[in-house]
Amino acid sequence: MHLLIPAAGSGSRMKAGKNKLLINLNGESILYWTLKSVFLSKKVSWVGIIGQPHDRSEIMNSIKEFSDKINWINGGNTRQESVRNGVNNLPNNAMKVLIHDGARCLIKPELIDKCFTELEENDAVILAVKVTDTIKVVNENRIIKETPDRNFLWAAQTPQGFLVTQLKKAHQKAKENSWNVTDDASLFERLQWPVKIIEGNSTNIKITSPIDLKIASLFLGNSLV
Ligand code: CTP
Ligand code: MG
Repeated sequence: MHLLIPAAGSGSRMKAGKNKLLINLNGESILYWTLKSVFLSKKVSWVGIIGQPHDRSEIMNSIKEFSDKINWINGGNTRQESVRNGVNNLPNNAMKVLIHDGARCLIKPELIDKCFTELEENDAVILAVKVTDTIKVVNENRIIKETPDRNFLWAAQTPQGFLVTQLKKAHQKAKENSWNVTDDASLFERLQWPVKIIEGNSTNIKITSPIDLKIASLFLGNSLV
């Protein structure tokens, strides 16, 4: 099955002065660990990395072990644009696709497989975890407006999997209507297309801020997690 990895960000919140996916974590780049897990999945047969052209040589250098199994696609200015480029450059035989952020390097191969399996029965699926904090919705002055019932709140992760024809259409509609979203499932919601949640694992964090490097370093060194 086909899998796309958005890796074209700049990592502004990480403040490392370069794409955070190139940061060294336990001896390898963050993107290396993501790919390590991806290629341990039994169901992945084609992988596309969506990256900025100026990062290409450094990225490929940091993932040499997988270089003959990787297809390169140029990314855009936003994650949404990057994924759109990715989907529009999939091989013609790709019917379903998983999108998995390069920044989620702690993903377990079994969970990637689970997403592919669920995608056989559903047109759109995402990995997510139950929210444990009580979430507040606020106004622009940070005054609380409401507290949604936690039983209905899930924190979205990746992988997110879709029918290629639908995902292409959703991204095209988003472009036409200037929708700006931070994950692909949001586009399906706007179109009122159902997306099924698959319960994931809270260790599947997105490396975003410097503290996440410390957490990920511990998890990577602990095979029990
Ligand atoms: N991404 C992408 N193209 C962009 C922006 C982001 O492919 N133009 C990718 C990132 O490389 C990352 C994933 O989307 O793997 C999730 O994005 P995020 O965690 O926000 O990463 P960055 O955009 O790099 O970080 P920041 O928002 O802090 O700048
Ligand atoms: Mg970002």
